Amino acid sequence: MNQERGNWGSNIGFLMAAIGSAVGLGNIWGFPYKMGRSGGFTFLVVYLLLAIFVGFVIMMGELAMGRKTGKGTIGAYHTLSKNFKWVGWLAVFAPFVIMSFYSVLGGYCIEYLALNLSNLAFAGAEVMTGSDLFGAMLTNQFGCLMFTMLFMVICYLINRGGVSGGIEKFNKVGMPALFVCLLIIIARALTMEGAVEGLKFMFVPGYAVKAGFIEQAPGFLTVLATAGGQMFFSLSLAMGAMITYGSYLSKEENLVKNSGIIVVADTIVATMAGLAVIPAAVANGIQNGIPFAEIKLSGPSLLFVTLQDVFAAMGAVGPLFGVIFYLLVLIAAISSAISLIEVVSTYFMDRAAEKGKEGNRPRIVLLVCLAIMVEAAIVAWDGLGSNDMWVPFQNSLGVVGAFNDCWLDFMDFWSEGLAMPLGALLMSIMVGWEIKPKTLLDELHVGGSSKIDAFFSFSMKFVVPVIMALILVGQLNDFLALGLF
Ligand code: PHE
Repeated sequence: MNQERGNWGSNIGFLMAAIGSAVGLGNIWGFPYKMGRSGGFTFLVVYLLLAIFVGFVIMMGELAMGRKTGKGTIGAYHTLSKNFKWVGWLAVFAPFVIMSFYSVLGGYCIEYLALNLSNLAFAGAEVMTGSDLFGAMLTNQFGCLMFTMLFMVICYLINRGGVSGGIEKFNKVGMPALFVCLLIIIARALTMEGAVEGLKFMFVPGYAVKAGFIEQAPGFLTVLATAGGQMFFSLSLAMGAMITYGSYLSKEENLVKNSGIIVVADTIVATMAGLAVIPAAVANGIQNGIPFAEIKLSGPSLLFVTLQDVFAAMGAVGPLFGVIFYLLVLIAAISSAISLIEVVSTYFMDRAAEKGKEGNRPRIVLLVCLAIMVEAAIVAWDGLGSNDMWVPFQNSLGVVGAFNDCWLDFMDFWSEGLAMPLGALLMSIMVGWEIKPKTLLDELHVGGSSKIDAFFSFSMKFVVPVIMALILVGQLNDFLALGLF
């Protein structure tokens, strides 16, 4: 590995950064709700099985690909494969497109953090309801643009600092801070009256339907596809992030153990995030006489409408919890965004190195961030469809809720809906059948091997491709509202 590329300062620093990449908005607004509506503990078991047999395996594979080649995503695929060279492009395209809306959502977090801070400073000022506030924010296009830009500036400053000097440094402080914030919010949430109903929604199989949160439980195939889609987005897989982070890792470190730690930590944080948000949202709904079916428990509305209402209803201490909460969401968003930016930047850094030049990191990161800002400007201006902007193919499918409702959905479709599952599917075929698992197993043995050979080969060859194909169909079914199953 060449020295100029940069290295992690320590294994714990790498772990914090990788966990930071994994723990993001997906954990907070996706996991708890999907778990609740898809059968509570049953979903958790399905999720865990998928995380072990698919997530853990791809995680080891990606880290090994990165460390073996010492290159970012595109370079790694080019070095390893003849037939799948181009898959690397998918895994750079996806993070670039995801950033178009991740940055806008990050901007919303900053706005809400600022708002709660000012409510804290000017106690007694009138507090708007979550939905009024969210509506006002989305239609204030210029404001959204500014906050998106602010989010990108923060990420830029971290990424330009380099692997150990920027990314690792941020995560080493950010991750423990996020954890403490999460514990505080959980303690507050679980002591609210009615919180237990939220816990039942999350964990008791069948309760979501029985108590009237949702009308009908989804079928098993849907649950499998939902859990799978959530799992690999949440673990930052098939986006080049882990290949890139792995390429900065020293040969002394144990990839198998590290992969296990990342998967376990991400799942624990997702469950904890559920304990922080769902019971509070449900309890506040009960206290205000809102029927369960009308409480928004996922997506942007969970974060920016339902929870803001919870904080507004808490009285004098509300803004304080609001500040802690939006700070934690912001840290989660930043730590994921910087991994996405790094995937794209590393490609250009590696290309410069190939030509024998030393890549100018600050300049490359700046250009990448500017390019992201251009696409993000469209998503910010659109305000989740609040501003009646033109969206490609809008209504051409004639299905409400399909991928083309607003710019965020449109961007999400190409990245999370298509490029991610397709990339993971092709990667498993490449590793399992073209270059053979042994190529990566050799790398996994460096730095301390565990007895995973048979498990790794079998999963990579047979389990991962089948499950990834199902997830791909599931994502298309969801995004295009095909109604297949
Ligand atoms: N894992 C992040 C989340 O849960 C999203 C992400 C995906 C980040 C892929 C980096 C790479 O929100």
